[in-house]
Amino acid sequence: MPARPDRSSPLEPIRRVPQIRQYASDPVPDEVIDQLLELARWTGSSKNGQPWHFIVVRDHERLRKIAALRPNIGWAAAAPLGIAIVFPAGSSLGEAYDEGRVTERLLTGAKLLGYGAGVAWFGEPPLQAEAKRILGIPEDRHARQIVTIGRATSTKDPRPTGPPRGRKPLSELVSYERWGGAKGSGRPR
Ligand SMILES: Cc1cc2nc3c(=O)[nH]c(=O)nc-3n(C[C@H](O)[C@H](O)[C@H](O)COP(=O)(O)O)c2cc1C
Repeated sequence: MPARPDRSSPLEPIRRVPQIRQYASDPVPDEVIDQLLELARWTGSSKNGQPWHFIVVRDHERLRKIAALRPNIGWAAAAPLGIAIVFPAGSSLGEAYDEGRVTERLLTGAKLLGYGAGVAWFGEPPLQAEAKRILGIPEDRHARQIVTIGRATSTKDPRPTGPPRGRKPLSELVSYERWGGAKGSGRPR
């Protein structure tokens, strides 16, 4: 493992994709939205089920109502755009995995296009039901989140409390060959 990241790596632009919670009010152009939806469409999914539906939300009042669901997502009110991700009700574990994959694509794609994006999680089931009502989502569908997108004005978390930033070192996260195995284990001599 390198002691520090290789800044010339082609992976560098997507190594850190921060959760953006502070946005400029500038609208996100249609071409940007279309590119992000196309990127999302091509996400791999369990059995290629493509279980998602996307709701593009530009209406400020609707975003404000969603942001008001709980204080932890209050910042979403200032985003110029949200893409809500809708799944069939009673989604399987595979579909929950698919949701993570498609979400990460939206976050990463936004960054590569010069925008920022953030996950706004609706919360407990009663709040999900309220979000569904705000978004007109039918009974037989399920939605857990909206991904907000816009020009980032800051990468800081404006909330008084939030999770710490940064990441654990690889030394805490990786074993080789078997649990707890040191780097170099199993390497041909
Ligand atoms: C399932 C999930 C739910 C999240 N819910 C929220 C949320 O409700 N509010 C919020 O501000 N961030 C939310 N986040 C964003 C995380 O806080 C963020 O990914 C994490 O703190 C890392 O941020 P960083 O990459 O900027 O360091 C959520 C992320 C995930 C994956």
